[in-house]
Amino acid sequence: MSQPTRSGSENAAGQADGGAVSAHRACVESDRLMGVLDVPLGNWYPPSSPVSPSLSASLPEDRRSHCAAMLAELRERHDRECPHCTHATAHQRTVFGEGDPCARLMFVGEAPGETEDTLGRPFVGKAGRKLDEMIQAIGLRREDCYIANVLKSRPPENRAPLPLEVERCSPYLVEQLLIIRPRVIMTLGGPATKMLMNTDVGIMKLRGSWSQWVAPPGSPIVSIPLMPTFHPAYLIRNYTLETRAQVWSDLKAVMHRLAETA
Ligand code: URA
Repeated sequence: MSQPTRSGSENAAGQADGGAVSAHRACVESDRLMGVLDVPLGNWYPPSSPVSPSLSASLPEDRRSHCAAMLAELRERHDRECPHCTHATAHQRTVFGEGDPCARLMFVGEAPGETEDTLGRPFVGKAGRKLDEMIQAIGLRREDCYIANVLKSRPPENRAPLPLEVERCSPYLVEQLLIIRPRVIMTLGGPATKMLMNTDVGIMKLRGSWSQWVAPPGSPIVSIPLMPTFHPAYLIRNYTLETRAQVWSDLKAVMHRLAETA
C-alpha cells in the first residue's frame, strides 16, 4: 500500500518551509522503523518542529545535577530500606532506573527481567531493544528519556508483580517521578498503567487515550499527562500490523504532546 497523504503534501510543504519537509522525512523514517508504512495516517500531521534531544540538554546544568544527586540519594535509600526489595530473594541485582534526571519523557515498565537482573539496568533485553526502537521512532535517544519500573527487583520466574509487592516498592517510583517531573509519562503494559492510573481497567481498554498520573496530596506538582501503551514484549509477541500501528499511534501522540509543551 502507498502513503498518499504524506508524499502528496511534501513538495508543497517543502516550498513553504524546509523544516516541515525534514519533519515529514523523519516521520516516514519512523514509520519504516516501526514497520507501519502501509497504515493510513488519519488526522496526524508532524509537529512543526521535530522533537529535539537538545530541548532537554538546554536546561540549566544546576537543575540537572540537583536532580541527579536526589536520584542517587533515593537509589541508596531504596537499596537500604525498600520493604519489597530488601526481602525479595529471587533477584541478583536491583534495577533502580536510568536516564536523563530531567527527562521530559519517562517510560515505566513493570519489573526487571532476566537480562535486567543480571546487568542492573532497565529494559536491556529483547523488550529493551524494541523499546529503543520505539524511542528512536519519535526522534529521541534512550539517554534523553528516563526508564524505570514499578518493581525494582525481578519477581521469581518473571511472574507478574503481586499487589503487595507493588504496594511496597512503588513509593520509590513515585519519588522518582516527583524528582524528574517529566512532561509526559508513557506506561508500558498493564501493571504499570494500573498502578499509575490507580485503576483495575485493562491495558486493552486504556491504551491510546490520554490520562493523568495524579501526584500525592501536598506534592509540588498536581499531575502529569500519561499515555498508556502496550509493553514492548507484548508488541514482539503480537507483531501484527494492527498492534504496531496502535503503538506507533500512541508514540505519535506523545511526540505531539512533547512538541506542544517544548
Ligand atoms: N520488562 C519490564 O517491564 N521492565 C524491564 O526493565 C524489562 C522488561
